[in-house]
Amino acid sequence: MDRPKLYINENTLQHEIALEFLTKNLLELKWKLNENVLDIGCGPGDVTVKKLLPLIQDKINKLIAVDKCSEMVEFANDCYNVPEVEFQIMDIQDSSTCLFYTEYFNKIFSFMCLHWAVDQQKVMNNIYSMLKSDGEILITFLKYNPFFKIYESLDMEFQKYVKNIMPKPVPTLSSEELKAHIENTGFKIIKFEEITKLFTHKNTSDFLSAMKAVDNMYHILPKNLHEKYTSIIQKTMIKGWNFIEYSTVGKLTLKYTIIAIHAIKY
Ligand SMILES: C[S@@+](CC[C@H](N)C(=O)[O-])C[C@H]1O[C@@H](n2cnc3c(N)ncnc32)[C@H](O)[C@@H]1O
Repeated sequence: MDRPKLYINENTLQHEIALEFLTKNLLELKWKLNENVLDIGCGPGDVTVKKLLPLIQDKINKLIAVDKCSEMVEFANDCYNVPEVEFQIMDIQDSSTCLFYTEYFNKIFSFMCLHWAVDQQKVMNNIYSMLKSDGEILITFLKYNPFFKIYESLDMEFQKYVKNIMPKPVPTLSSEELKAHIENTGFKIIKFEEITKLFTHKNTSDFLSAMKAVDNMYHILPKNLHEKYTSIIQKTMIKGWNFIEYSTVGKLTLKYTIIAIHAIKY
C-alpha cells in the first residue's frame, strides 16, 4: 500500500467507514484536557486530517498519525502540514518502536488497518502498552482480509514474494476469539460490533484498481508478473467474494464485514 497517489483516489469506502464510525461512537469517549492521540495506519493522511482531526481538534494536545509505509508518511507530511498533527513511521507489530510511547496516549484510533497484521495478539499488546491507564481505543478493521487467502493459494512462482508480506499463514479469528484476545490483553470491551457494508464498484476495472491500491504485492512483484497476478486477483476474488450483483452493466457490489471496537485499558 505504498502508492499513496493511487490509494487517495480509491478510498471513498474508507472515508465513509471512518465518518460513520466516528459519528456513531465518538460521543461515547471520555475526554480530559489536552490529550495525546494516536492514529494507527494513517495511510496518506487524508482520513486523519479530514475526518478525525476536525472532530477532536479542541480536545487534543497532539495527534500522532503513524504508518509502517514510508511513502505514505512522506506523502502525508507533504500534503497535510497542520500544526496539531505529526506523521511518523511506525509498524504496530514492532514492539521496540512502540516502546518509545509507553503509556503516552489517552486515545488510540485505527481505521481499516489492523486486518493487515499477521499477529493480532502482538498488535493488541503494543496498543495496550502505549495507552495510559483509563485510555480508550476506537478501532475498525475488516473481519477477513481477502488477500491473505489469495496469497496462500498462489503457486511457487509467487510464494517467494508472499513471504515478505505474510511470513506465516494467518488464522482467521472468529469474533469470539478476537474478543478473547482483546480481553486477555487487559482491555475492557465497551462495544464490539460486526457491521455489514455494501460498496459498489462501477465495473471490474474500477474494482481491480481499488484492490491494486491496497495490495502490497504490486510493490514487491517484478513488473513482468503484474498482469498475471491481476488476472489471478480478478478470477479468485470476484468468484470467491460474496458479491451481491454482477449486472449486465457490469457493476460489482461487494459485501464487507467490518469489526468496530471501543475498549478501555484498566
Ligand atoms: C487501507 S489503509 C487505511 C488508511 C487510513 N486509515 C484510511 O482509513 O484511509 C491501511 C494502512 O495501514 C498501513 N499498515 C498496514 N500494516 C501496518 C502496521 N503493521 N503498522 C502500521 N501501519 C500499517 C498500510 O501501510 C496502509 O497505509
